Amino acid sequence: MKTASAIYVLGLLAFCAGTAHAAGNHGSRNLAAACAACHGTNGHSVPGMAALAGQDKAYLTKVMLEFKTGKRPATLMHQIAKGYSDDQIAQISEFFSQQK
Ligand code: HEC
Repeated sequence: MKTASAIYVLGLLAFCAGTAHAAGNHGSRNLAAACAACHGTNGHSVPGMAALAGQDKAYLTKVMLEFKTGKRPATLMHQIAKGYSDDQIAQISEFFSQQK
């Protein structure tokens, strides 16, 4: 499982960098920094990964809640979505919908 732990460490590094960068900013930006490891900084993803920036707020909220309840099948996102309250999901969705 060497590869898996390497990916985990990389993810943590990206998470820390994002958090440090976002320090002092609005709370939703800090929450959204946790998504940057996979979906790109401020939701600007690399090709092949779902972009979050500029997505409709209602769409993002709906998808995240569906991941959380297990209604929408996922390899990863169901676990991630469970870590957030509905309120935090609304904040994160708002943040990404405002990114260009
Ligand atoms: C560890 C990597 C990872 C992280 C961190 C992550 N995601 Fe995802 N995300 C994925 C993957 C992989 C998918 C594709 C669905 C699946 O298989 O889980 C996805 C899909 C999505 C989708 C669906 C996009 C679409 O239009 O189909 C949304 C919305 C989403 N993620 C939001 C978020 C948000 C918000 C966060 C931060 C709270 C986040 N993700 C953090 C890996 C990640």
